[in-house]
Amino acid sequence: MGKIIALANQKGGVSKTTSSALMAYGLHHRGFKVLLVDLDPQRNLSKNMNAKTTGDVKTSMELLLGTATAEEAIQHLPYFDIIPAKKELASIEPLMPLSGRLKKLKKGLAAVKDKYNYIILDTAPSLGVLSVNALVAADEVIVPSTASVFSIEGFLDFFQNVRDVQEDDNPDLVIRGVLITMFNGRAVISKELAEMTKTLSDKFDVKTFDSKIRSSVFISESQVHRFDPFVVDPKNIVCQDFNNFLDEFLEGGAQNG
Ligand SMILES: Nc1ncnc2c1ncn2[C@@H]1O[C@H](COP(=O)(O)OP(=O)(O)OP(=O)(O)O)[C@@H](O)[C@H]1O
Ligand SMILES: [Mg+2]
Repeated sequence: MGKIIALANQKGGVSKTTSSALMAYGLHHRGFKVLLVDLDPQRNLSKNMNAKTTGDVKTSMELLLGTATAEEAIQHLPYFDIIPAKKELASIEPLMPLSGRLKKLKKGLAAVKDKYNYIILDTAPSLGVLSVNALVAADEVIVPSTASVFSIEGFLDFFQNVRDVQEDDNPDLVIRGVLITMFNGRAVISKELAEMTKTLSDKFDVKTFDSKIRSSVFISESQVHRFDPFVVDPKNIVCQDFNNFLDEFLEGGAQNG
């Protein structure tokens, strides 16, 4: 049985999409079968992966509305599969029926869960119906966060929202941890803020991953030119950091599929 992992944080620009993509590449290189699901109307992930998002294409929107099955919405990429997003996803809320609207993604993905080791959900920077669908469908959530004061305030609010989802709709949801991204290990303030992240998460019984992801322009280059960073320069600091994170992630929760 595959595991559904949501990368979520209502704060914007904390590397949710970048981390989703790096997880997909990294897990693929470790032999796992991966499906990415783009749940953000910005559709950065879909564009980054060269997925088709316009015209008569079935996407996460149709999956959520029940007008397409997961199989119909899946696009096959060389390394992994993707269910892309389309921009109309921004106005899906009034189109969804009131009853059962938070469980649409869970139901839609159930049909393909066994075909993948990991299904990775990239979410939008908000806690609307799309992101709540992701948290209801997920087995685990990873919370990317930068070592900054505003991010810390953001993820504390987010933990509370996850607790609400756990209470109401998904008691089995595990918060795997906070992943510190775009970390600047040379700045004293970054180290202090990373420590603060850990101390505050501990108070919520949430782990902060020991592995922190540093910044590199190479990651922007990989996104502009749409290449797999682990193939082009596996020694790049972000690839190294991300591989350490994947070791930690896989050690802490062996895939049971
Ligand atoms: N490790 C990194 N090194 C360098 N740049 C990075 C790194 N991680 C993310 N970025 C850059 O930071 C910006 C924000 O990243 P990303 O889009 O992944 O965040 P996000 O949380 O998905 O944003 P949003 O909330 O808008 O969906 C992007 O321009 C991305 O290229
Ligand atoms: Mg994003």
